Amino acid sequence: MTVTVSVPLPGRAYDVVIGPGLVDRAGTYVAPLLRRPRVAVLTDENVAALHLERLRAGLSAEGIDMVALTLPAGESTKSWAHLTQSVDWLLDQKVERSDVVVAFGGGVIGDLAGFAAAILRRGVRFVQMPTSLLAQVDSSVGGKTGINATQGKNLIGAFHQPSMVLADIDILGTLHARDFLAGYGEVVKYGLLGDAAFFEWLERNGAALSAGDQATRIEAVRHSVQMKADIVVRDETEQGDRALLNLGHTFCHALEAATGYGNRLLHGEGVAIGCALAFELSARLGLCSQEDPSRVRAHLRSMGMKTDLADIAGDLPDAATLLELMGQDKKVVDGQLRFVLARGIGQAFVTGDVPASTVLDVLTDALALRAQMS
Ligand code: GLY
Repeated sequence: MTVTVSVPLPGRAYDVVIGPGLVDRAGTYVAPLLRRPRVAVLTDENVAALHLERLRAGLSAEGIDMVALTLPAGESTKSWAHLTQSVDWLLDQKVERSDVVVAFGGGVIGDLAGFAAAILRRGVRFVQMPTSLLAQVDSSVGGKTGINATQGKNLIGAFHQPSMVLADIDILGTLHARDFLAGYGEVVKYGLLGDAAFFEWLERNGAALSAGDQATRIEAVRHSVQMKADIVVRDETEQGDRALLNLGHTFCHALEAATGYGNRLLHGEGVAIGCALAFELSARLGLCSQEDPSRVRAHLRSMGMKTDLADIAGDLPDAATLLELMGQDKKVVDGQLRFVLARGIGQAFVTGDVPASTVLDVLTDALALRAQMS
């Protein structure tokens, strides 16, 4: 069972194909894009160990040769050093303007390889083969590519749309439970930002999804990708609606900065906690009912996800420092913090009009609860 979501951007339309066995059948999908039967793959060492030879066989079945560069796994690979290494390697491999680069990995590889493709010979085409849930539902779709700067995450990059996205659902079965759930934070985000019925569907189907039910996983990825495609087509370069996809991210980025962008808090875990805090803030501002943040937290909790600041191990800075860290977010406009808030589940909107004192109150209370629970 394979489903396709179209991203009908004028002049750069592409398909997101979602289903089982796509790595083994990659050649069938990629062949029509190629001028010559050869692709250059960027991947990481975890994905390479588990899946690279299968990809080689899947391409070779259609007569396509593959060269691959395997990079270290982890966020620190999204750096100038690895970008330089990747671009040098692609040039050494004599990748031409009409060739196709394949990003075979999670969000880190997708962002890095996409950016390398964007700047190589002023832009070569690339195919996203996302191997994490987070990458399948979010980062592989929509053309945001880039690397991190010492000043913050994702501060260097380009919009460069892929020519195709192949989301192999089988690969999700090889993820550690923690990584799967972190990606699920982004799935829940779609329901919360714009589709109450999808959030209800997730409340009903979350357990099956987590247990590995294939049809449920395909539907969750399809629905998320369709929502993202709709938003990206309306606002590719984030002048307006695309910012809705940042629900939970202003809090998340502060928490990631406070915890060192590492294993203490994965991005998707920060998004989940950030969504719960964004609903709490919305309730405090009288925008939604107090039941909404409770319901968000209840669902995250039922999935075994990080939900509250108490779920983050180790020390956290005080509320004022967290607020300060939010100010480093790249979504700050004219020095003003921008938040995605909600008038209810599925009714998010973007605003710069949030009193810092209310944000500080939400953080202070969340930290106090954490102190009580420790
Ligand atoms: N991950 C948010 C976006 O693509 O806009």
